[in-house]
Amino acid sequence: MDEKKAIQRIEKLREQLEDYGYHYYVLDQPLVSDAEYDQLMQELIKLEDQFPHLKTEHSPTVRVGGEPLPHFEKVQHEIPMLSLGNAFSEDDLRDFDRRVRQGIEADCTYTCELKIDGLAVSLRYKEGKFVRGATRGDGTTGEDITTNLKTVRSIPLTLKEAVDIEVRGEVFMPKRSFETLNQAKEAAGEEKFANPRNAAAGSLRQLDPKIAAKRNLDIFLYSIGQINNDEITAHYEAIQYLHRLGFKVNDETKHCESIEEVIDYVNSWVERRSGLPYEIDGIVIKVDSLPYQEELGFTAKSPRWAIAYKFPAEEVVTKLEGIELSVGRTGVVTPTALLSPVAVAGTTVKRASLHNEDLIREKDIKIGDSVVIKKAGDIIPEVVNVLAELRTGDEEDFAMPTHCPECESELVRLEGEVALRCINPKCPAQIREGLIHFVSRNAMNIDGLGEKVIAQLFEKGLVQDVADLYKLEREQLLTLERMGEKSVENLLQAIEATKDNSLEKLLFGLGIRFVGAKAAKTLAMHFETVEQLQQASFDELVAINEIGEKMADSVVSYFEKPEVEELIEELRRLGIHLTYKGPKQPDPETIDSSFASKTFVLTGKLEQMNRNDAKAEIESLGGKVTGSVSKNTDVLVAGEDAGSKLAKAEKLGVEVWDEARLVTELQR
Ligand code: IVH
Repeated sequence: MDEKKAIQRIEKLREQLEDYGYHYYVLDQPLVSDAEYDQLMQELIKLEDQFPHLKTEHSPTVRVGGEPLPHFEKVQHEIPMLSLGNAFSEDDLRDFDRRVRQGIEADCTYTCELKIDGLAVSLRYKEGKFVRGATRGDGTTGEDITTNLKTVRSIPLTLKEAVDIEVRGEVFMPKRSFETLNQAKEAAGEEKFANPRNAAAGSLRQLDPKIAAKRNLDIFLYSIGQINNDEITAHYEAIQYLHRLGFKVNDETKHCESIEEVIDYVNSWVERRSGLPYEIDGIVIKVDSLPYQEELGFTAKSPRWAIAYKFPAEEVVTKLEGIELSVGRTGVVTPTALLSPVAVAGTTVKRASLHNEDLIREKDIKIGDSVVIKKAGDIIPEVVNVLAELRTGDEEDFAMPTHCPECESELVRLEGEVALRCINPKCPAQIREGLIHFVSRNAMNIDGLGEKVIAQLFEKGLVQDVADLYKLEREQLLTLERMGEKSVENLLQAIEATKDNSLEKLLFGLGIRFVGAKAAKTLAMHFETVEQLQQASFDELVAINEIGEKMADSVVSYFEKPEVEELIEELRRLGIHLTYKGPKQPDPETIDSSFASKTFVLTGKLEQMNRNDAKAEIESLGGKVTGSVSKNTDVLVAGEDAGSKLAKAEKLGVEVWDEARLVTELQR
């Protein structure tokens, strides 16, 4: 085909694909079969490959994803992306209505929208062309994820009018796509996503847009950030305008005349929500009139003209089939309830931590009981209570063992602790968990060495201590399940690469008691080489700011052990660099805006790090950690079995993160 013809054909194909895509993905009214659409797309891709200079940023071919990015650029939001205050009851909604009417000294109407459980994004268009998409981030600074957002088929690349506009909405993963994705992950032996929201977030954080393109993400737009148009005077009109521009908006949005009508709408969704093809976690109620919105303004965190009604945590009944015990890296034995699988708040729950013996006794939990399960903060499964009236008499009492379930040495309860511990340093469970810790991201960060691989290596006797990881050979790794030539090659390279890690990664990875990631960094920065640290006295250690007596004691006794000396010697022989490579002083660049000047509260049990480490890490990034939740709290990090603090945070509308979110933010 000559170029002139190609230009014409490309133009025609783009127009057709855009229109078919709009009908299919935005309006949900397909005009042609999937096969026909795909065929046209292939034709366009081919033509653009033939005439690369005819490629454009807004061609439908960008939907399949371009080249991977090295990292995401930061984006400043000109108008901050705020969050919403919460309402948990009809009374809370009536209070909101009262505050609004007092504020404007008039009655008003409301627009009610489904609160989609996904990720807030901002989309910027110049003369009708999509030019930039960003995450919300901390509300002021987000990340530029334009290339990933272009793969979201329902995001228009070109609007129906050539306007300059910034719009906001929620990217989400439909329930069906989430299930398919998790089935595929399970089949591949990969870790599954906990819920559709995490899956959507994980997909948008992919540096490779081709992966994001395969994840079937979708979007609903719910507000205009910036626009040069003063004809729109009500939120409901704004939504209709967005629809006219070609954006996907939610059909269930309703304009309500009074708060009573709002309450009816809210209540109607308590039952209906489970039938939706996507997850919602509440209803957003917005004052409809834009002049009234302006008059009401904002508090520090959220608009006074809107509120999010949060559905009560869904509670379901299931059977507690058994109690499993697991031994952690530090020897703590934790009981976990094994449940008949049951769907709660969007995912299937099979397990819930029971934390310790005291809790089992307090709740009078027996094996075989019918139990009520909910997810605290819609995240962490927990046993609420037992339905004792449903007992048949066949239920069995549970008692914590007196001996370690893995190595059979006697368990001890250390003074002041509720937990039972195995204190045998040779306990295989502790060694295995210690290895898992050693390779984890904040420690040596060995890519491709997940829990399952470690467990296999350990079971086969290929790895007994951390030094053995550096002695692994190709043939040994090839004997592992699901390890082909390529993955073995990658793994060996990943292991090799960690020999150059800066000292603090190793120090944290060794799992010295009380030494979290932050303390490891302090020690590495101060002593610079492992030899210097090995020789450090208690007095030298406590003289360092941030190193307390307990930690100093622990460090000294750790390095006194002959087996530790041998281990360090062996690591050195194996070529691991045991020196600090970072900047001498904390680098102000590491001050992350997700943490800087924010107040955090930690509650519940954290699985991947202990509370002190989490605290130290947050502080190292400029955050503050306090003990109780108040209106000054910015973020509550809720580990397992988070209780009253979580409830209070929800009541006050404080942002809640689960541990996974904390870990992700810390690693950003
Ligand atoms: S309006 C200033 N409307 O909920 C108000 N938010 O806590 C901005 N969300 O970050 C939000 N559906 O991620 C609004 N229909 C909707 C929403 C919605 C989901 C999310 C959004 C926001 C969070 C508010």
